[in-house]
Amino acid sequence: MKLGELYCSRCSARLPFRYQDMKCDCGGTLLVAYDLEQVAKTLTKESLQLRYSSMWRYRELLPVRDPANMISLGEGWTPLLRMPNWENKLPLKQLWIKREEQNPTGSFKSRGFAVAVSLLKQAGATKAAVPSNGNAAGALAAYAGRAGIQAFVFIPMDCPSLIVDECPLYGATTVLVDGFIHDAAAIIESGRVEQGWVNLGTLKEPGRVEGKKTMGLELAEQLGWTFPDVIIYPTGGGSGIIGMWKSFLELKALGFIDCDMPRFVCVQEEGCQPIVDGVKKASSKTAAAENAQHLSSVGKIIPNPTGMRVPNPPDLELLLSIVEQSGGTAIAVSKEQIAAATLSLGADGISSSPEGAATWAAMLALCDSGWLRPSDRVVLFNTSHAMKYAKLGTSAAIPIIKTYDEFMVYRNL
Ligand SMILES: Cc1ncc(COP(=O)(O)O)c(C=O)c1O
Ligand SMILES: [Zn+2]
Repeated sequence: MKLGELYCSRCSARLPFRYQDMKCDCGGTLLVAYDLEQVAKTLTKESLQLRYSSMWRYRELLPVRDPANMISLGEGWTPLLRMPNWENKLPLKQLWIKREEQNPTGSFKSRGFAVAVSLLKQAGATKAAVPSNGNAAGALAAYAGRAGIQAFVFIPMDCPSLIVDECPLYGATTVLVDGFIHDAAAIIESGRVEQGWVNLGTLKEPGRVEGKKTMGLELAEQLGWTFPDVIIYPTGGGSGIIGMWKSFLELKALGFIDCDMPRFVCVQEEGCQPIVDGVKKASSKTAAAENAQHLSSVGKIIPNPTGMRVPNPPDLELLLSIVEQSGGTAIAVSKEQIAAATLSLGADGISSSPEGAATWAAMLALCDSGWLRPSDRVVLFNTSHAMKYAKLGTSAAIPIIKTYDEFMVYRNL
């Protein structure tokens, strides 16, 4: 099958496939179109049963054609963990956590970069750059390393240091930027032509949305070809929301599923909440960007949910329309709520990034407000691992002992 065309998510225009510049003349985002009749010939519920546990099991719905160009580190097919104890305590029917922290780079970003870097390989590109709040940088670094492509990552300086430190280990040229993610993006745009970089920023190319789309495909398959009622997702640039929405439309068009779309809930951090403001129609993009300047970046013990810190999502309009069409909502949570949620999940054995924990905090708030209903089947996305956000030295309160007696002294203090 040949590579599909692109279509505009706003005006529906069709264009030939391209690797860069995903903006239509109307300002809408261009997405990959597939010949679904052709796809349906080999992608069936039965054929999937024989395929290996990887996001590449949906290869007909991914834009990489030659297996030699598929750059894989074992991403996808992450567990969907049921939370039965909480189902008994909370006013909802079923609760699941999609454990995206189990991807090869410790975050869901593995999915998008597996496809984006595969497309680079397919196009014969040699250098790629990304502005990133951390996890995308690590993922580009790892997948580019695997593909033999040079990676350049530009990371706001308040991002978790372990995530930053990992990038050079994968061989990426790594710099910290004194500013926000859009400042990092501006630096890449300034040097893109001179340096010969392909910009893999959010919605700058088609691969990242297509890769993240597999979260939705997997979720539907893991739930026995149904959709949950509600998806709660920590949202920054929003490519995960766009990707999952697209995946559900494709599954419906293929006739795999015939039920209502899930209600999408975008979770953001208080103080950087353009989607929440957009849903409330209370604030403009500029106001949201100004808002973000007030965010504290020096949390000593409570790590920052930097992945959600995107003051200007590249296609806010599309995100708002998905939330609205699905009957969803957007909600902001505080650092304190995130810290408490991290401990709740930890007590259940789940290592969650602040962004993942934010979905737990949001779920509790939506139970309290009655927005979540007792009949709802709810899925939360734990997008990354707590360890990536660990701050070295903050465990100073943990005692060091040599004997059991010393342990008892410590216990009795
Ligand atoms: C851990 C984590 N969660 C959520 C997000 C936001 O994801 P999206 O870009 O799909 O909105 C990011 C983005 O950097 C992230 O690193
Ligand atoms: Zn258009």
